[in-house]
Amino acid sequence: MKGVLEVTSGKNSSASNLITLIERDQVLSAGIIAMANSPYFGFSKKVTAVSNAVALLGFQEIRNLALSISVVRFFDQKGSDFQDKLWKHSYAVGVATRMVAGHFKLKIEGKLFVAGLLHDIGKIFLCEYLPAKFKEMLSILEKNDSKITYHALEKAFFGTSHGDVALRLLETWKFPQDITEAVSWHHEPSKAQSDQVLAACVHLADLICTYKSLSPLGDRHFLCLQKEILPVFQKLKESFSSEDVRALMGQLDLEIDRQSIFVSAYKR
Ligand SMILES: [Fe+2]
Ligand SMILES: [Fe+2]
Repeated sequence: MKGVLEVTSGKNSSASNLITLIERDQVLSAGIIAMANSPYFGFSKKVTAVSNAVALLGFQEIRNLALSISVVRFFDQKGSDFQDKLWKHSYAVGVATRMVAGHFKLKIEGKLFVAGLLHDIGKIFLCEYLPAKFKEMLSILEKNDSKITYHALEKAFFGTSHGDVALRLLETWKFPQDITEAVSWHHEPSKAQSDQVLAACVHLADLICTYKSLSPLGDRHFLCLQKEILPVFQKLKESFSSEDVRALMGQLDLEIDRQSIFVSAYKR
């Protein structure tokens, strides 16, 4: 984690430093090469070395991928049943964000998966570092029968939201502004400034996965599309409607399969 961060955010931030650092880490290099060759990007050219991947995808892109792999490694992915479901949800939202962008014919970049994967990182942090308090909050949520939302309980228990926690984490780790904002505003994407389309894609992907029950909170965590973000979708596709959401929900299982090589680069 520290190694990648030093190169990406420090004075010695250069492509050759980043290549050296990735090459020193066999798992990370194999992951980056597998990602560059995966159908996620759809390149026909075969990538065999990290330097090729940087040349093909660019420094920023490789930096984002390496940084997000480091973040995933930083957390323990084998915890409670809730944690397990939260990670499954996170991977699904990563896949769905790429799928949503494809639906709107946007340029496919790694940051789509990265922002989707990390969207609930604030929740993952709270759950892993304050487990007793988090468990208590979940037990109230279960007994409560939807009278109080998860978001209201989070505020009452922690005095903050998982979006704010994520903002602080991603700023500390020197993530680029567009990813940081898309993650911290995934419930209110219209508030994102540097890349509102990215935030909108993450927001819609989160809804799709939740509607498909790929969510740790099940039906109790009832989400809806933010009204203010509709014009962004309509600008991307004039006829955008609930039909698009339904079509995307129908494609998700296939997409999870299609992106499995890319996703496996994150798994240990
Ligand atoms: Fe969330
Ligand atoms: Fe989520």
